Amino acid sequence: MNFFYTLLLRHCTSLSLLFLPILGFSQSTAVKKFPVNDIRVVPEPAFVEALIGRVDADTVWISAEDTSLFFSRAYLQNHLKKYVAITSRLSATGNRIHGIPIVLKLDESFKNPSAYMLQAMPGRIEIRGNGSGVFYGVQTLIQLFSQGKPNDIPACLIIDSARFSWRGLHLDVGRHFQPVSFIKQYLDWMALHKLNSFHWHLTEDQGWRIEIKKFPELTQTGSRRKQTLIGPYGTGMYDGTPHGGFYTQAEIRDIVQYATERQITIVPEIEMPGHSLAALSAYPELGCTGGPYQVMETWGVSDEVMCAGSERTFEFLEQVLSEVMDLFPGTVLHVGGDECPKERWKKCKRCQDRMRAEGLPDEQALQSYFMRRIEKLVNRRGKRIIGWDEILEGGLPPQAMVMSWRGEAGGIEAAKQQHDVVMCPGKPLYFDHTQRLQEDSVTQGGYNPLEAVYAYNPIPAELDPSLHRYILGAQANVWTEYMRYPSKIEYMLFPRIAALAEMLWTPEAKKSWPQFEMKLPGLLGWYKTLGIRYSDAYYDLKPGWETDANGQLHWTLQAKQERGMIQVARPNRRFKQYQKPLRIRKSGIHQAYWQSGDGTQTSDTIQQMVHVNKAIGKLVKLNVAPSNSYSTGGVLTLTDGVHNTVGMSKSAQFLGFWGDDVVMDLDLGKRRRVRSMQLRSFEQAASWIYAPKEVSWEVSENGKDFEAINTESAITQKAGHVVFEVGVNTRIRYVRVRVKNHGTIESGKAGAGHPAWLFLDEVLLN
Ligand code: ACM
Ligand code: ZN
Repeated sequence: MNFFYTLLLRHCTSLSLLFLPILGFSQSTAVKKFPVNDIRVVPEPAFVEALIGRVDADTVWISAEDTSLFFSRAYLQNHLKKYVAITSRLSATGNRIHGIPIVLKLDESFKNPSAYMLQAMPGRIEIRGNGSGVFYGVQTLIQLFSQGKPNDIPACLIIDSARFSWRGLHLDVGRHFQPVSFIKQYLDWMALHKLNSFHWHLTEDQGWRIEIKKFPELTQTGSRRKQTLIGPYGTGMYDGTPHGGFYTQAEIRDIVQYATERQITIVPEIEMPGHSLAALSAYPELGCTGGPYQVMETWGVSDEVMCAGSERTFEFLEQVLSEVMDLFPGTVLHVGGDECPKERWKKCKRCQDRMRAEGLPDEQALQSYFMRRIEKLVNRRGKRIIGWDEILEGGLPPQAMVMSWRGEAGGIEAAKQQHDVVMCPGKPLYFDHTQRLQEDSVTQGGYNPLEAVYAYNPIPAELDPSLHRYILGAQANVWTEYMRYPSKIEYMLFPRIAALAEMLWTPEAKKSWPQFEMKLPGLLGWYKTLGIRYSDAYYDLKPGWETDANGQLHWTLQAKQERGMIQVARPNRRFKQYQKPLRIRKSGIHQAYWQSGDGTQTSDTIQQMVHVNKAIGKLVKLNVAPSNSYSTGGVLTLTDGVHNTVGMSKSAQFLGFWGDDVVMDLDLGKRRRVRSMQLRSFEQAASWIYAPKEVSWEVSENGKDFEAINTESAITQKAGHVVFEVGVNTRIRYVRVRVKNHGTIESGKAGAGHPAWLFLDEVLLN
């Protein structure tokens, strides 16, 4: 059976025959069809067929017979009026008015809630589906109107439904509060992309954002912090300006209704037992020490968490969650569970007593006990909990869903235990990580470009097919430490939201990055019409490194634009047209930019300071792969002659290793005189990143017999950059550098008990 019939039967058995004559007719007429590629919709629909002719929809009237479709009808009319400049009128009765009819039809034979059928013909447009399906069909129609000319829409038949049921987007309003108007804007952006699950992260160390009638101090005290960290994590500088805000219950009801109309379910998150300093500052008796506590002014993870030994904690949470569940009609409640240090629990008498009384072997088990109790409260109301993947540690609560953020391992494990899973691995689905290589603002470390989001598959390759059904979908997370204002959120979100949407909606077989790239200019044009300030990082020149057969290092540049050229300059030389990778010969600033066909520069200038030394391009082997999250530039990062200069945020200049000792082997190709050897690393204890515990050097002439250099490295340290250096003065060919990881992070420090990160920047031989 071909794809088309399969789809028809899947969505709407009773309707299939209705449309077949149209398809037949389209084969036998002289009137032209548009190429199917002219029908541009994101996310790409499951089935698109061009029909004969075009639709001149300059003037339309919109009819909907069923009251359940009135919202869709009004939504379409408002959108057309505001952004497309089409005259439209409404008709409830189906009476003929001047113009092209757009008929919205409720069709209960569509079983899948996301399914719809859209048929645009020269004299008539029709969308069928159940309530939510019609709304999605309206979104598709909006794009047909927006990405072409309203009086020249390709006639087409679209039969569509979503690949995943959880198509999510998250927003952290704890770090930075955003007004109700922006939340509504966010929901509209989700609706335009057929996303249906809004994960609203409402409580944090830095602020409690939801009114709870029973506990007024949560918002009176907990929603305000005195000041906020300035710039990248670790600066120690504060703005001296109070920050605060919260949503009243009336506002939340209003937002819930707004979301519901747009087919979006809100998943509210109340964090526990960690990330809850704002709650502790309002009710210090909820903590192990009793405080005093302060709403947090910087980022990271606090040791201060809710006391798991005290009954008051559970009474408090029962009442809070009860009010939350009254407000949100959705059936899933997010209860956090991530990044909960156990330092306080280890020293708290009540927590230790609880462990003894319940026979809990360790603090992990105590956290599991905590989450299980919370699950019972929630289940009693007929709802389910979802938590971050840490809730696997110490044992999952029996019904819990898992949100896999530290990679996919947690999600895979949960699916194996037959629990439902939502995937949101930091790479590539954390939208607080940069989408441009040459970063233009402070962001979290990590590089998640558009194409990486697009390429993501929520179903892990290693997962047994019988377990695929536990993967409900995925979501992108928008943590706002470095997003104070809506404009920054918007910039980080667009256009990645489009890649997210297509990854979640479009059948895997129809996902196509080249086709998405082809649709991108039209999509960005549409965003412009909507007034959206998106990132154009996709069009950036992309610098990279490669070595040739002789181990010579070359600078490569790639451009996505057409009609123009890359201009490139060596240090202190004039710009000229880039023809091929540029061999690195001299230290200094290498530069490049894009020049349009008319001769004007249309990109920023990329500047790359290179320190030429005998090691550049000469790394041949690493004993262990760097972490997937910190390996943007590949292994050549270590010998590209580029030093990290500004710390964490330039993630492309580091390789990160989690807990591993690293051994690097270099081959200079022939014997050369070396006077000093240097290893550059980075330290930021608050982010769990530690300089090597020890660096040792070995050299060899033949690659077999290595001789240890017994001088201790001289260590210099400046702004987190920790440099190890030894003098040698001998002729060598092979160098082996052994780098010992700091190991387990000590008690009392951020990340205590976890392995330390090792961030390596560069090896230099001079
Ligand atoms: C998280 O990013 N801590 C869930
Ligand atoms: Zn305690």
